[in-house]
Amino acid sequence: MERFDLALSVPFTHRVCFTHDAFSLENSLLRDLLRESGGRRVLVYVEDAVAQAWPALASSISRYLSDGSVELCAIHIKPGAEACKADDSLVRHVWDQVEKSKIDRHSCILCVGGGAFLDAVGFGAATAHRGVRLLRFPTTTLSQDDSGVGVKNGINAFGKKNWIGSFAVPYAVINDFTFLHSQDPEISRLGLIEAIKVALVKDADFFSWIETNAAALAVLDHHALEECVKRSALWHARHITTGGDPFEMGSSRPLDFGHWAAHKMEQLSGFKLSHAAAVAVGLWLDVCYSVKAGLLDEADARRIATVLETMEMPMFDPQLLARDSSDQLAVLAGLEEFREHLGGRLTVLLLRAPGQGVDVHEMNHEWIAQCIDHMHKRATAAMR
Ligand SMILES: NC(=O)c1ccc[n+]([C@@H]2O[C@H](COP(=O)([O-])OP(=O)(O)OC[C@H]3O[C@@H](n4cnc5c(N)ncnc54)[C@H](O)[C@@H]3O)[C@@H](O)[C@H]2O)c1
Ligand SMILES: [Zn+2]
Repeated sequence: MERFDLALSVPFTHRVCFTHDAFSLENSLLRDLLRESGGRRVLVYVEDAVAQAWPALASSISRYLSDGSVELCAIHIKPGAEACKADDSLVRHVWDQVEKSKIDRHSCILCVGGGAFLDAVGFGAATAHRGVRLLRFPTTTLSQDDSGVGVKNGINAFGKKNWIGSFAVPYAVINDFTFLHSQDPEISRLGLIEAIKVALVKDADFFSWIETNAAALAVLDHHALEECVKRSALWHARHITTGGDPFEMGSSRPLDFGHWAAHKMEQLSGFKLSHAAAVAVGLWLDVCYSVKAGLLDEADARRIATVLETMEMPMFDPQLLARDSSDQLAVLAGLEEFREHLGGRLTVLLLRAPGQGVDVHEMNHEWIAQCIDHMHKRATAAMR
């Protein structure tokens, strides 16, 4: 018998860019990226909500790509949001168009849209020809400050989020801040929860900055919003590129602070509860739990509560009270599902202080129930 364990490493470059008006003729960022990629053919996908908010967008893209350096095959405007991940129709559209437009592995797909649209088109791009170059243009706060700079894609299946998907490093991510300013203000504000999250687990100074700027962020002051999105995006990108586990082979997912309960609440709500709103509630639950477990000072939890309140983040959701058929809190099953998703041992990141996380491998169900009760009472009192 013979066995050879040959190490294999594949170098990737994660290009994360920030700009305004990426498709204005004076902006050379995209032109330079396309030239460097060497790709000749370009296929474009634009989410319809973005095309509606920016009626001149398709003509700007077409003008931008008409300088003869690349061949624009088509611009497809398609519906996005969570519904586009509910089945494989958008993915199949991408496959079909890749085939029809003779897009090869050196060609580029440009995708302009929110996190859900990027996830579905991204999965199509990653699987056609085993991977066509993808240039992502995230258009929501959440996709610019978190998901769009990630290296994952996916659609939902079996009633579960992102059950089908792959890891695929995009050729480039272009965070064009201009898009942020056409979003529904509530969706935009809620998307900042991922910035609060990454600050809490990675960077005490960033959390202090958010604290100082919470009122400006609450009203989506352009300067504060863009600065916050950029700092968050860079932390997410840095974690992926230097954290040692870009494709999540291990059992811990430090950037998923607050997410075990969030994923379960999204599922319990039939995905009516948005990811961002669920993360806000899940994050606050894990902050309360961190205090109960003796890890985090109450004073720090109060600072976090003030930021969440100032930024009008939800701090309770009725899904937390839902019971399963054995009269257990249904959200508790989220812990096991979180473990299953990653495989291996349960690892949940809790907080020791802003900027300082700590991994735990079990959570006390009774303490979780007490935290939920405390959150419920607090939310009810706030409503009076
Ligand atoms: N791949 C990953 O690593 C990863 C990580 C976290 C979340 N996600 C996924 O991201 C998705 C959530 O992304 P999201 O928060 O961007 O939500 P979304 O894509 O559903 O967009 C929110 C809403 O804003 C609209 N919209 C998008 N851009 C707009 C703009 N510029 N102006 C006006 N309206 C606009 C959309 O049509 C939608 O109605 C979820 O499916 C989640 O699972 C993926
Ligand atoms: Zn998230």
